Amino acid sequence: MDWISSFPVTRHVLEYTKKQLCQVLRSGSVPQHIGFIMDGNRRYARMNKMETKEGHSAGFDTMARLLEVCYDCGVQAATVFAFSIENFSRSEYEIEWLMKLAKSKMKQVVENGELCHKYGVRIRILGNLKLLPADVRESLLEAQEMTKNNKRAVLNICCPYTARDDITHSIKNIIARGYDPEDITQDLVSENLYTGGVPKLQLLIRTSGVYRLSDFMLWEAVDVDCDVEILSVLWPQFTPLLMLWILFKWGWNRTGRARRNKRLLESHGKDD
Ligand code: FPP
Ligand code: MG
Repeated sequence: MDWISSFPVTRHVLEYTKKQLCQVLRSGSVPQHIGFIMDGNRRYARMNKMETKEGHSAGFDTMARLLEVCYDCGVQAATVFAFSIENFSRSEYEIEWLMKLAKSKMKQVVENGELCHKYGVRIRILGNLKLLPADVRESLLEAQEMTKNNKRAVLNICCPYTARDDITHSIKNIIARGYDPEDITQDLVSENLYTGGVPKLQLLIRTSGVYRLSDFMLWEAVDVDCDVEILSVLWPQFTPLLMLWILFKWGWNRTGRARRNKRLLESHGKDD
């Protein structure tokens, strides 16, 4: 299908359609916060006879395209799983490449910052930052610092992160703040997570057809208000049109759910 979009006219039509659909979705209901488990970069590279690093590069481009659609549709916060603490067990070569990719992309954000300026996106780097090489940490934090006054939307980049490490960090934080064990509540743990202060997660998307959460946003994802969507496509195959379809479906389901709840409440009211 890729060849179709290589024609300038088709590309123009697709771009126009995308903008129109974003406008329609923006006027309805979209998730306030979406989490992305970006899985399948290496399989994509193998399938297309590319090097692993090219698969990750393609993965970054996909991420940028999808985030643009989300922010265009009015999503307020996105959290991406860029690097798991578990990923430190991969080959030295792959880790080095992923670190290089993160550093160079964050440098681009600092130098041109298009996406962040256009959509007013504040970048936040979440995770156990002391595990990162110093130069990578600095680049990431520079992008965070540069975008700190942007107010319209948030991009949380989890690097390096696992949910269990986050929950442990939250509890350590609470103890360090001198709380009595009796006063520790679920809300307090939530507030002290790296994602504390951003809207509640309402949609978690994973690619590559694997039914696992891979230690990502475990605390946030169990909320009754959060839907989980597992897609069979590999991450670099995830298109903006598929993203629009998922957002449409989410809004449709929510409206249906709200209507059913309203009817249920009304029928209970009649019984009383
Ligand atoms: C999982 O696919 C993907 C990763 C471990 C890396 C994801 C990173 C990016 C998309 C780039 C993001 C960079 C920044 C700076 C935000 P996999 O390697 O597990 O592939 P596989 O499941 O096919 O083996
Ligand atoms: Mg994987």
